[in-house]
Order: sequence, then C-alpha cells, then structure tokens
Amino acid sequence: MAEVVLGIETSCDETSAAVLVGERRHPELAGLVILSQDVHKVFGGVVPELASRAHLSALPAVVDRALAEAGLAWSAVDAVAVTQGPGLVGALLVGVVYAKALAYAGDRELIGVHHMEGHLFAPALEDPDLAPPFVALLVSGGHTLLLDVPAWGRYRLLGATRDDAAGEAFDKVATLLGLGYPGGPAIERFAAQGDPGRFSFPRPMRDEGYEFSFSGLKTAVLRAVRASDNLERDRPHLARAFQDAVLDVLVTKLERAVRATGYRTAVLGGGVACNRTLAQLAAQRLSGLARVAVASPRLNADNAAMIARAGWHRLGLGERSDWTLDARADLPLPGLESAHNPQSAIRDPQSR
Ligand code: KG4
Ligand code: ZN
Repeated sequence: MAEVVLGIETSCDETSAAVLVGERRHPELAGLVILSQDVHKVFGGVVPELASRAHLSALPAVVDRALAEAGLAWSAVDAVAVTQGPGLVGALLVGVVYAKALAYAGDRELIGVHHMEGHLFAPALEDPDLAPPFVALLVSGGHTLLLDVPAWGRYRLLGATRDDAAGEAFDKVATLLGLGYPGGPAIERFAAQGDPGRFSFPRPMRDEGYEFSFSGLKTAVLRAVRASDNLERDRPHLARAFQDAVLDVLVTKLERAVRATGYRTAVLGGGVACNRTLAQLAAQRLSGLARVAVASPRLNADNAAMIARAGWHRLGLGERSDWTLDARADLPLPGLESAHNPQSAIRDPQSR
C-alpha cells in the first residue's frame, strides 16, 4: 500500500495538487494547493481553451508547492492519483498527461479517479469514521446525483437531474440577477439579506421520487426578473426565494432516500455543498434520522485532496491504471448501478 499519494485535479477551472501521507485507514492531508483561474470571470463562465492553457502553465508549480507544503521531495511519492473525468477534455488532458509522465519517469504507481467519486470521498478527509452505508447527495456545476452507497465503490443511482445541475442553476440564476461567475457563493451572500416572504418559486418534482429538474425554476426566476421594476431592490429577495426552492427540493429528496434506506448517515458533496444553508437545512430535517457528513468548503469545491483520497482507497484495493489511461469528458462513475425505477434501487432495510 502506497504511503504517500500525490493528487492532481484539472477537470475544470481549478488547478490543484495535494499530498496525502499516512497509514492505510486514515491518511493525513499534508499539502494542498488550489489555484482558481481568474481569467474566466470576465467571460461569465469557463472558457475551455483558456482553462487548458492556464492548467498547462500552472500545474508544475502547483505540484511543487504542494510537495513543499508537505515537506516532501518528489522521490517520497509512491503513487499519483489524477482526475480522469468527467470534465473539460482539454483541461483533464493536462492533468492526466502530467500525472502519467511523472509516474512513468519515476516508476511510480498511477490511478485515474472519477471526479464525482472524489467529491464523495471529500468528507472522509476530515472524518476518519465516515463509512458506508450512507445516502449521498452530490451537487456540483455539472452533476446532481442522489446515491445509495452500500459500500465504498458500489453506487446505486437513486436519481439525477433531468436537465440543469443544481450548481448550474445557481450559476444561471446568478447571471439573471446580474451577479458574477461562479454564481453559488454570490447567491448565498445575497440570499442571507433576502426576505423569504417576498417571492415564491416552484419546487420542481419535490413531492415525487428521486429525480431532479431545475430548468423550470430558472425560467420562473427569469419571469420574476423581467417583471421587477427595481432589480436592485428585489435582488436579495429573488436570491433568497430561489435558494429556498432549490435547497427544499434537494433536502426533501435526501430525506426521502434516508427514510427509505434506513441508513443513519447522509453525505453532502460537491461545490454546492459549500452552501452553509444547505448543510444546516439537511442537519435540521434529518435530525434524529441520520447524521450529516459534509467537508469544509475548501474540500467541497474542486480540489486535489479529494482526488488523492479516492485514489488512496482504490490503490488500497490493489487497483492501478496503466499507461493507456486517457482523459474522458464523459467518464461513467465506476461501480454505478443505474435504476430506472428508483424504488427498486433501495434495498429492504430489514435485509441488512
Ligand atoms: O464541484 P464544483 O466546485 O465544480 C464542479 O465539479 O462543477 O462545483 C461548482 C458549483 C458551481 O456551480 C458553483 O456555483 C457552486 O458549485 N457553488 C455553490 C456555492 N459555492 C459553489 N452553490 C451554492 N452555494 C454556494 N455557496
Ligand atoms: Zn467538482
């Protein structure tokens, strides 16, 4: 089992490297560098070509800094874990090629990691006792996944989004409200000043099943923005009503899955899990049912520590990637069983 794992993440607009050190069960995060690319701000969204170029110029220094933070030389590294996908293919490619070159030249082990499995492992970085079975709600800019996790590496899809991801909805609504990119943090800030009674938005699909849909909600906000005669005045109230609607839908479905599985733990992950109100609402609604595990914001947003942690787990099982490892924009989650009928994905809690 590797004792020092270097993680590399370049799937979108964060260039990140991390170093995990330690024994098998609970590795310590010894170094983490996250460089957020500023260049996209003026464009109101991530420009893929610019992201790849920025990763290319920054990654070697980011890796060196993470190793220096850990007080280790490259020679101490046993294995390299890198995000293989999903994400922007040009951006992913920079990380994958760099990781392969490092591992090949240094004769080290290599493991490709699924970005969302990284998000799933993020809380385990700070919580050594976190273990399946649990229900996980992974909410990022590209994905909204509600998973039944009977064991690490085994995932049953309860529900996903039919259209926009939760983070994408935050970003699009932020644009409608004239706020910058990324939208989630700005919406959360404005929502904190908003009056919850001023506007009310629909809660799409809240009362049925485990699937999500956020595009209608976005349209409802668009109509309200157009109808407003003073956006300056209404902005915090619109942000509040939108955030209340999204969080209510997310947490209602999480609670439904917790009740159906009978699991005593729920995990929140992905960039949207940086939202403090989401974590608070989940803890409040699941109180007495399940404990809510959520990483600190730094580890919920894209970072290489979570990639190193998921890689650490897979390396511990004896898994390795070979030199044919390639970036995949649409990489499927390994170990995912999809269920067309979400109810059938849930085991009878009595059978455990
Ligand atoms: O996981 P992540 O960093 O990148 C992807 O894998 O996509 O997630 C980014 C998403 C963005 O859509 C961003 O607006 C959202 O997470 N986000 C938030 C917050 N912080 C980031 N959404 C709501 N509230 C926040 N505080
Ligand atoms: Zn992410």
